[in-house]
Amino acid sequence: MIETIRWTEDGVVMIDQTRLPREEVYVTCRDYRAVAEAIRSMVIRGAPAIGVAAAMGVALGVLHGAEFETVCDTLAATRPTAVNLFWALERMKRLYASLRGCPIAEIRDCLVAEALQMRLEDIAINQAIGRHGAGLIPDGKTVLTHCNAGALATAGYGTALGVIRAAVAAGKKIDVFADETRPFLQGARLTLWELQHDGIPATLITDSMAGHFLKSGRIGCVVVGADRIAANGDVANKVGTYSVAVLAKENNVPFYVAAPLSTLDLTLASGDEIPIEQRSPDEVTHFFGVQVAPDGVAVENPAFDVTPHRYVTAIITERGVARPPFTESLGRPTSWAGTNSGKTESERL
Ligand code: MRU
Repeated sequence: MIETIRWTEDGVVMIDQTRLPREEVYVTCRDYRAVAEAIRSMVIRGAPAIGVAAAMGVALGVLHGAEFETVCDTLAATRPTAVNLFWALERMKRLYASLRGCPIAEIRDCLVAEALQMRLEDIAINQAIGRHGAGLIPDGKTVLTHCNAGALATAGYGTALGVIRAAVAAGKKIDVFADETRPFLQGARLTLWELQHDGIPATLITDSMAGHFLKSGRIGCVVVGADRIAANGDVANKVGTYSVAVLAKENNVPFYVAAPLSTLDLTLASGDEIPIEQRSPDEVTHFFGVQVAPDGVAVENPAFDVTPHRYVTAIITERGVARPPFTESLGRPTSWAGTNSGKTESERL
């Protein structure tokens, strides 16, 4: 399995996702500031991977004697949209508070152990998401995905790609269409690299081709990841996801979101409240360092968009599959439908 992030004696080691697929280079972050910079610069990216990196950053900071609040604040200031970052920091803060009065060596050991545990849990959670989602994938069809919600975006296995991996492991004959995902090209660079690595048949398309193929009848379903899901089921994910969701509904193609419970933000009533990261104009005006737009041009570069819940067929989590109305189902995971029924959406309808 592709190893996105690991804890070593020297520091936190990450595969550098800005350099894939041309170079497989590993970066060692030797202090918490380097971890924060790796998150900000997208050496590591994807909501669950960012969460694990932040937890390891906290552990590294405390290990080196940095002030706890400063470490947490520095990591929290890196990327605003993926709630997993804040979820991970809160978990580390709760543990730290519970250790008040303990010897410093014990506090350090406990924080490192917690970060390592979060990494292992994330892999197990993704495998559970895969088990719950595999039955929803239509056999003999193409699955469309956007961005990279794979092993690289998590501690391993992936959310959306985890569902695809589990469907393939279950014997389904599927192939994948991956949107290139402008402007950072997570689909072209990372999703195709991962799927090639696993020998899963995959085809690269540009974002603007998604409508053409959704209309063609070839696409059996769409599966994407998420950065934050509000209480009503609105989903923030990589910019371009909303367009895919609307086109999927127009063409009666089921649109699934695969995400761990740590991506739910039930404190937000709707997606309107989700903070959307704005990134550098250079990502839009330049293509791998080559300028493609005139000097001085006005640019917008929101890194995420919000897909309204009415376009979401179901949300696949480690606990099962939540269906509309999400305001009810997301608040009550115990009510979620049986999951690995083996039925596809068209069979359910
Ligand atoms: O800007 P990125 O690459 O961090 O955005 C990633 C995504 O939008 C993913 O789809 C999302 O984080 C889910 S990853 C399992």
